[in-house]
Amino acid sequence: MVITIDGPAGAGKSTVAKRLAKKLDVAFMDTGAMYRALTVKALRLKINLEDAQALTGLAAKTVIDLCNEAGKPLKVIMDGEDVSEAIRSLDVTNNTFYIARTSGVRHVMVDHQRRMGQQQSMVGDGRDLGTVVFPKAEYKFYLDADFKVRCKRRVDELRAKGQVVDEEALAKDLAERDHQDMSRTVGPLKQADDAVHIDSTAMSIDQVVDFIASRVRLT
Ligand code: C5P
Repeated sequence: MVITIDGPAGAGKSTVAKRLAKKLDVAFMDTGAMYRALTVKALRLKINLEDAQALTGLAAKTVIDLCNEAGKPLKVIMDGEDVSEAIRSLDVTNNTFYIARTSGVRHVMVDHQRRMGQQQSMVGDGRDLGTVVFPKAEYKFYLDADFKVRCKRRVDELRAKGQVVDEEALAKDLAERDHQDMSRTVGPLKQADDAVHIDSTAMSIDQVVDFIASRVRLT
């Protein structure tokens, strides 16, 4: 069984997907973490982020594992190294779109994600899971929320981690990221025709999780 949750940045996808996976006792696949992990490597190796061929070659020889251990946060392992923290830096966040817009990279990632989906039941979150990666997924959701609410959630999340946040810059980055994700030619952010749209503006994380769980169980 595959449950896909797509949507824009800051809609709460990862938090919802993680809790839902725990509730249903299935794996959690954070596909954004995979694109981020490759970004970490490309930045470290100072690869020209405009060079699609170099990025595709890099994706093909990079091993990215998502480590789901019951009761523990998801670990993102790149070539054997735990990069779970490194992938969340601002530099990585702001450069991931170069990696994500490269069609050769997306092919490698999509193949990898499909293999993971064949091996186990899972909840996956991303941008193109319902449209491209798992077009035949049993359950598809598109999670959205008002822009201001999404910004506030991101600000709260970063502040809770002790980070100093420039709210204006964050809003600008988030809007830019949405635009980049929606306008790229390969795997753009888009609601699948058969996905259930959830507007979480006035909903808590638990309410969203319960709503999805009820849909999954009833159908
Ligand atoms: O979900 P998260 O914000 O961590 O994703 C980081 C970036 O990775 C997104 O802004 C998007 O550009 C890219 N991404 C993607 N396709 C996915 C998941 C993430 O292009 N399935």
